[in-house]
Amino acid sequence: MAIPVTVWKNCAGSARMSDINREFERHLAGWQTRYQGRPQRELVCLYLLALEREENVAVAYSERVLGPRLSALPLAGGVRELMRSALRQVWEDEEEHVVYVRAALEKLRTPLLHARVLLQQTAGMIGGWTVAVRQHQRWAEAPLSRAAATFVLWAGNVSGRVPRAVRRHIDYCSFHDFCSYNVHTEGTAWRCWQRLTELAEQVPALCGEHAKDFRRIAADEDRHRRVFKTIADALDDGDRLRADVTSQGLAARLEVAQQKGDAARVLDDVPLS
Ligand SMILES: [Fe+2]
Ligand SMILES: [Fe+2]
Repeated sequence: MAIPVTVWKNCAGSARMSDINREFERHLAGWQTRYQGRPQRELVCLYLLALEREENVAVAYSERVLGPRLSALPLAGGVRELMRSALRQVWEDEEEHVVYVRAALEKLRTPLLHARVLLQQTAGMIGGWTVAVRQHQRWAEAPLSRAAATFVLWAGNVSGRVPRAVRRHIDYCSFHDFCSYNVHTEGTAWRCWQRLTELAEQVPALCGEHAKDFRRIAADEDRHRRVFKTIADALDDGDRLRADVTSQGLAARLEVAQQKGDAARVLDDVPLS
């Protein structure tokens, strides 16, 4: 099945597809082909994937993880607070998404699925912890945690649970690179909820009543992508505020990034300076 580049153009005007986005599209397209005529199966796969990913970021974006990292950045207090507040909102959204997808899966009520839900939930939490340790802690700072997280990552790679395009990003990096990476992962989260929206519209008998919620969560994911892009654009490779960026410009851009509704402006139209 061809990769629908057009759907990425609809993601806040961005037509750029990274390897992460491309691999995810192939994954979704494989499910669409395999479950053609069996939308219930595709729905369950998408729900389980969404559950694991939402659990993952509910850990990886938490204040406990990002707080110390933000505190260590070479930034003025006001700038740091702007970033902290925007990222806290992202995390609160993710916590709400976890609750939503757990409840949606519970409504399906099949015993076998119950076991899969537990497995997926656990995998998501362990994955979130692994990503948090690997991306934010150096060996010298936390040798035991790093060793455990490295082992978990190796097991995830061997078992094929960690997408190939993602693997090289799960290591210590600048905050700028961490945010750039999450621009792409939030794009895939948006795509997952967008596919759920399509299913709800195409097979209303299956999950039509959820279409509005799916659309709302997809919009949340796109706002998250815009927040991470704004922070990445504001920082240089050494995590300092870029010379042409002011705290007022950053505040204005973050406000636009978090704007709800169809009238959300294109980020690049708002100067960071
Ligand atoms: Fe989410
Ligand atoms: Fe998100």
